[in-house]
Amino acid sequence: QVELKVNGKPVSADVPPNTLLVQLLREHLRLTGTHVGCDTAQCGACTVMADGRAIKSCNVLALQMQGADITTVEGLAQADGTLHPVQAAFKECHGLQCGFCTPGMVMSTVDLLAQVPYGEAISEQLRTNSRKALKAINRFPVCEIEDLLAGAAANNPPLDPALARPPAA
Ligand code: FES
Repeated sequence: QVELKVNGKPVSADVPPNTLLVQLLREHLRLTGTHVGCDTAQCGACTVMADGRAIKSCNVLALQMQGADITTVEGLAQADGTLHPVQAAFKECHGLQCGFCTPGMVMSTVDLLAQVPYGEAISEQLRTNSRKALKAINRFPVCEIEDLLAGAAANNPPLDPALARPPAA
């Protein structure tokens, strides 16, 4: 029996011990926004937030997440359907090619912005991580991607306020 919270709602499920978190999400809870690409912890398509940090849900057992607070891509938007700023930025930039890995990239970007929400740090992180990845998958003008994600960062409340760093002086 695993008990945890998923997208703010308590979940209790009787699953075999070898059930992966991604299987719990997709097959038991029907949250199919979390995708399985490589199934070997490499591609990141299965990324979700666990207690405010990004994890690959294909690489962890559901039972290991006992008591955890999980957020999937379905849990980012507001109840009225308003997209999370990172989702909005991806949508505006058409930040995808086939789109299969996009949920994982959105979750990874939310994690990135939660860790480095201010100033130069975000710019540097985007330069070395998301920006390159986004450029590679979409060939969209990099400056526009960076500007949009920086704008998203400014409006992006960290999932876990304890992870936020103070702005640089
Ligand atoms: Fe590729 Fe999990 S499915 S990292």
